Amino acid sequence: MIKISDLVSDDAAYISRRAWSDPAVYQLEKHGVFGKAWLFLGHETQIKHPGDFVQAYMCETPIILARGEDNKIYANINSCSHRGLPVCRADHGNTKRFVCPYHNWSYKVDGSLVAIPQEKMVSQKPDKNTLGLKPVPRVESWQGMIFGSFDESIEPLDSYLGDMRFYLDAFFDRFENGIEFAGAPHRWTINANWKLPMENQLGDVNHGPFLHSAVIPAEANQEIFDVGLSAVPHPGHGATFRLMPEGTPNENMAWGMEGMGAILGGSEVKEYLFEIQAKAKERVGDIRARMKGLTYGVYPNLSFLWSNTSFKVSHPRGPGKVEYWSWSAIPADAPDSVKKILRTNYSSFFGPGGILEQEDSEAWMQQFIGSNIDFADDKPYYYGLGMGDEKPHPELPGMVSSTANEYYARAFFKRWREALESVSDQDANRIALAEVR
Ligand code: FES
Ligand SMILES: [Fe+2]
Repeated sequence: MIKISDLVSDDAAYISRRAWSDPAVYQLEKHGVFGKAWLFLGHETQIKHPGDFVQAYMCETPIILARGEDNKIYANINSCSHRGLPVCRADHGNTKRFVCPYHNWSYKVDGSLVAIPQEKMVSQKPDKNTLGLKPVPRVESWQGMIFGSFDESIEPLDSYLGDMRFYLDAFFDRFENGIEFAGAPHRWTINANWKLPMENQLGDVNHGPFLHSAVIPAEANQEIFDVGLSAVPHPGHGATFRLMPEGTPNENMAWGMEGMGAILGGSEVKEYLFEIQAKAKERVGDIRARMKGLTYGVYPNLSFLWSNTSFKVSHPRGPGKVEYWSWSAIPADAPDSVKKILRTNYSSFFGPGGILEQEDSEAWMQQFIGSNIDFADDKPYYYGLGMGDEKPHPELPGMVSSTANEYYARAFFKRWREALESVSDQDANRIALAEVR
């Protein structure tokens, strides 16, 4: 029998391999982590018009995210109230009704049930008002990013994100007309545990010079080594970036300049990036204008790769499989030609066939294999690098340290342990933790 407290040491310097591989732990995660967090669903620019919808997931639960006829945003579980079939089969689109293929019950995009074809043949009419799709109890947006939660009493999204907004806004607020998500996400599966992609993007930039030695130029790694910072505004969230010294010329500071787009995209894209950077101080203030972002994570499973402007969600499909969803996020008012180059930049590095994505995925898959080695589960992983080096910063919220400090991961796993411990006895009994091993 395993105890949850044994999965993560009190200082989080040691994490059990079972945290990654145990099916019983995964069942606890569904309730304790995914049942009680704000989970990213999509961006408002994906559903601009009444009737627009996109598919989403909250852990393994399929969701339809839609804009209703009243222009409001709705999130409902994609499962018919009659026999459970998905009523929406398309990844995205615009419709007036979702019609279930089995017996053709039909629903408005807001989830309400409008027609039961068999109704006229029966004497007792079902109460359609009670038979709509099951709604996600809490849905809120911030900066166009829509989140849902299964926890009715969860704190508001704004306070959940807390000071993580300071770091996310360093990107969002650079653009006068915000950002847009380009089309449907790329989706692919990786034979890994959902937490490793997340941990990687919460703050693990120190694998760059090693795992990505053939791709990332030595000067870029040196820059990260010299001026890289890892900030934890709240346990479970994280932001890594280079804080460029005052007086750094625009061309060394501009967001995206390290990407393929700027290298291959010619003068148009460079001019555009320089223009954005030239206004950055006025738009986001001095210190955030000097932030050249790397990777971010928002608890539990949303991440953001700033240089390649990609948001990603690590959707678990069991302890050893991830369905990775990945969006290209680009400035809404950039010229079309620049948007195209920025998307190419994203997919070259971090799309499903992206060079860095492939190298990362291989590491994540190998880690999952390592978490399942027979006779090794009493040898936990070491997470103690930089213990105690994290400190408050005069101008940046949260605890801040060098990028070698694994505090971002320790903070995540402490929160994760608490989340698992918060699962009620009733749920824990049902999951029968002890019986699985
Ligand atoms: S299962 Fe949907 S209408 Fe019967
Ligand atoms: Fe990587």
